[in-house]
Amino acid sequence: MKVFTALLIITSSTLAADFKKDIQPILEKHCYECHSEKAGKKKAGYVFDDLETFQKDINPKGAIVPGNPAESHLFIVVADAEHEAHMPPKDNLSSREIETMREWITEGAGLTKDAPKMTPTAGLAKKDLPPIMTWTNFEGKKIKAGFVRLEGENVILRMPANAQEVPYAMSKLDAASQQQAKDSAQ
Ligand code: HEC
Repeated sequence: MKVFTALLIITSSTLAADFKKDIQPILEKHCYECHSEKAGKKKAGYVFDDLETFQKDINPKGAIVPGNPAESHLFIVVADAEHEAHMPPKDNLSSREIETMREWITEGAGLTKDAPKMTPTAGLAKKDLPPIMTWTNFEGKKIKAGFVRLEGENVILRMPANAQEVPYAMSKLDAASQQQAKDSAQ
């Protein structure tokens, strides 16, 4: 039962971010003040409440690269508190808000409900999915997931329930699971 609960917690916070419901409130709270038609401010040319304008920043060469948060300048300046152009300038989003944005961009950064979702794993046959292993976090909770790769401070796990890739901080795993991640990366 414990395994199941941990899995639910992880997947529920990472499933299907919807722009209107999940992302717009974050932008409104943290960014509109300086980047909206409403406030009449377009710092660095960015407005997030006029979706026609915002859409122009969402493309493979734009500030948001659909499917790829790590290449998305807008996401980087928000997520990296040390970045010289960190946004918002004097504040930080909560880690939950950052994860929601990461998820939304990973899924394709659609602005409307019917925007196509990117499913990076959709074309993968079952046999290509990594074997499911058990991971234990520092609280002793067990997570069942496949190893994908190491990425900076995170291990990327693939959740068996929906084949989503989820970054998990290495520091939150117990020592044996950290070793398992390192061994799997060899
Ligand atoms: C208090 C005002 C303010 C808030 C709030 C704010 N910004 Fe900015 N933003 C600016 C200013 C000013 C610049 C221009 C910075 C510069 O060119 O030095 C800027 C620039 C940017 C840039 C371009 C960064 C670069 O490398 O030039 C991005 C992307 C951005 N903001 C996104 C956001 C996002 C996303 C939020 C909310 C999470 C946000 N901003 C909140 C004032 C703000």
